[in-house]
Amino acid sequence: MVRGPKMAVLMVVVVATVSMVRGSLAAGTNPSIARTASIPLTSADTRQTAIESTLQTILSTMQENHNQLQSSVREVMRVARRTQRELTELREDTDLILGQMYKPSCQEVAEDLHDGTRGRTNEAIVGVYTIKPPKYKPTQVRCELGRGAVGWTVILSRSNGRERFNRTYREYQEGFGDPSDEYYIGNEPLHRLTTWRSHQLRVVMEDFDGQKAWVQYKIFRVAGPEDNYQLTVDEFEADSAAGDGLKIHNGMKFSTYDKDDDDNKDGNCSQLFGGGGGWWFTNCYHVLPTGRYRSVGGNEYGGLAWYPWRNVKHSLKAMTLLIRTH
Ligand SMILES: *[C@@H]1O[C@H](CO)[C@@H](O)[C@H](O)[C@H]1NC(C)=O
Ligand SMILES: *[C@@H]1O[C@H](CO)[C@@H](O)[C@H](O)[C@H]1NC(C)=O
Repeated sequence: MVRGPKMAVLMVVVVATVSMVRGSLAAGTNPSIARTASIPLTSADTRQTAIESTLQTILSTMQENHNQLQSSVREVMRVARRTQRELTELREDTDLILGQMYKPSCQEVAEDLHDGTRGRTNEAIVGVYTIKPPKYKPTQVRCELGRGAVGWTVILSRSNGRERFNRTYREYQEGFGDPSDEYYIGNEPLHRLTTWRSHQLRVVMEDFDGQKAWVQYKIFRVAGPEDNYQLTVDEFEADSAAGDGLKIHNGMKFSTYDKDDDDNKDGNCSQLFGGGGGWWFTNCYHVLPTGRYRSVGGNEYGGLAWYPWRNVKHSLKAMTLLIRTH
């Protein structure tokens, strides 16, 4: 950054020097002609002295310019460092202020509400709140706030097919949909939340025959973009009503129809079997909350699946994924 302009200025000075020397030569007599015409030596000496003194002046001007340039560069660097420091402080202040305004997850929203309503009936509340996951921007999510300061953050919700889930890697990264209806929180906030503190996962599902089931995992974590949001899901709780469908997805990277990190060799799972949805596909899935919504169970790939609770081709009526700190 510093070298560029300095070099450019030096180049200009050198070019100017050369043309000045050329100019002074052209102004005098051509030296070879001067010799053959045997003009007295003193004239050549005078000219040489003049050139030397011009060069001397130019050189000292160059040195002066160079010194000035160096001190300007130092000044610019000083201002840049100060600006950088001020920006860092500003960012820290902003984070502090936003941190006080917004809780990092629904668990803290629940604790806050619990304090505020001490002594009154403490009913379960479902609502949309703005949270600020650590090192992430304020984000709207659905919170399920239960009795006793228990707050679950809803990270994915399906129930009617209003939202399109065949979306790009980029869209899955940022999240999409309506938190009060169908939506996905996004891989990036999910990563920030689950690597900030250890989280558990709960999945609640419903079939078209009215039956309901839930499962719970004690460990749920999503790695960062450098690891393609790799999933860690473990310690399935044995009394969960539906089977351990996520076992095969543990350790997988996140794939979408436009970014293929699955184990299928013939193409990509999202497009081939997943209805265009993004997921931690293997080859290809037992669980698929992001499939195409179907208003009947049906018997084909690409719907909302939880195997082994139901056949992998049977599409469920509703599915909600929630997380909470331990
Ligand atoms: C996404 O799904 C919608 C509805 O399910 C469909 O109309 C659309 O063609 C799909 N788009 C892609 C790119 O698959
Ligand atoms: C996934 O498969 C579809 C259909 O074969 C193809 O158009 C798309 O480019 C594939 N995506 C990737 C990331 O390979």
